[in-house]
Amino acid sequence: MAELYLLGVPGSPRPYRCCRKTKGEIRQRHPGLPGVWLFAAVAEIFRLEIDKKNKNMVSPIEATLDDFVRQYENTGACNDDIFETFTRNTDRYPFLKEHRDYIEQHRLGYGDRAFHYMWYLIIRHVQSRQLKPDMLEIGVFKGQVVSLWSLIAQTTLPELRVTGITPLSGKKIPGKWERFFKARFSAQYRKDLRDGNFYEETDYLRIIEGLFRRFSLEFTKFRLIRGYSTDGGVRGQVAGERFSVIYIDGDHSYDTVVLDIRNFSGLIVPGGLLVMDDASCDLPGTKFWKGHQGVSEACRTIESFGFKNILNVGHNRIYQKDK
Ligand SMILES: C[S@@+](CC[C@H](N)C(=O)[O-])C[C@H]1O[C@@H](n2cnc3c(N)ncnc32)[C@H](O)[C@@H]1O
Repeated sequence: MAELYLLGVPGSPRPYRCCRKTKGEIRQRHPGLPGVWLFAAVAEIFRLEIDKKNKNMVSPIEATLDDFVRQYENTGACNDDIFETFTRNTDRYPFLKEHRDYIEQHRLGYGDRAFHYMWYLIIRHVQSRQLKPDMLEIGVFKGQVVSLWSLIAQTTLPELRVTGITPLSGKKIPGKWERFFKARFSAQYRKDLRDGNFYEETDYLRIIEGLFRRFSLEFTKFRLIRGYSTDGGVRGQVAGERFSVIYIDGDHSYDTVVLDIRNFSGLIVPGGLLVMDDASCDLPGTKFWKGHQGVSEACRTIESFGFKNILNVGHNRIYQKDK
C-alpha cells in the first residue's frame, strides 16, 4: 500500500520530486500494468473522502517517517523538496495548521511550519514501532513543541509522556548604550548575539499554561523541569530515565550543545531519535534557513555516540540511535 501511495498521484502528499527511484522501481516491477495506476488513483479518491470526513484526519494511506527516510538523499534538491513538502503537508492537517497558525499569530515559537508535519510523522513512528512513549524537549520557550506533541498524541499516542527542561526566564537583550559598549568590549555578549541566545523577560509559565488551555490539553500531564540542561540538579531529575525522542533546542553555543549531546544522548532508547534544531549549516539547499554555526558544528560529534543521520527537514536534523 505504501508503495502505491508513493506513486505520486496528483494532489497526494507524495514524497519529494528528487526521489524518482521508487516510482521507477515500481514501474519496472509492474511493466504495463495499468491496473496498478488505476488502483492508486482510486486509493487517492478514497483518501480524500476520508480527509473530508475526519477533521483531524488520520488517513489509511499516509506516508510514514520510514517512507521519507528510505528515499532521502542529502542533496540540495532533496533537502529543498523535503522542506517544501513538509510545509505543504502541515497545512493538509487541520489540527496541525490551526496550531501553527496560532503560534505564528501570537509569536509563541520559533522554527518553521514544516516541523509540525515532521513531529506528526515522528510521533506516529514512536507509536508504530512501540518505542517507549516518553519524549523530552530541551529549551521549551513558550511551549510550541511540547503542546504540539501533546496535541498529536491525543489522536495517535495517548499514553505519551512529555517532559521539558527550560529556565522559564529570559536573557534580556541590553538597552541601546549597554549594547553599544558590550558590542565593543564583551566577547560573551557578541557570542550570545551570534548564537541567538537572548530572550525577552516574561511570564513563560503562564504563557505555556495558556497555550495548553487554548488547545484543550491537560497541562498537568506535562512534566516541566525548571532550569538549565547544564545544571547537575536538573540532569539528576532525568538520570536513569529513557526517552524515545529527545529534541535539543536550548542554548545554541557550540560548547553547550556538545555537552547536551554528550549528557542526554545516552538517555535515548536503541532505535530512538535525537532531533537537533538550528543545525543545518553544513547541508546543501537554498529554500530554508540553516541555523547556527555552533550548533551545526556540534552535530558533527553525534555519530560518535552511536547515531546515524537519517533525515533532515530544513534546519532540523534527525538522528537515529543504533539498535
Ligand atoms: C529557541 S528557544 C526554543 C524554542 C522552542 N523549542 C520552540 O520551538 O518554540 C530556546 C529556549 O531554550 C532555553 N534555554 C537556553 N539555554 C538552555 C539550556 N541550557 N537548557 C534548557 N533550556 C535552555 C531558552 O530560555 C529558550 O526558552
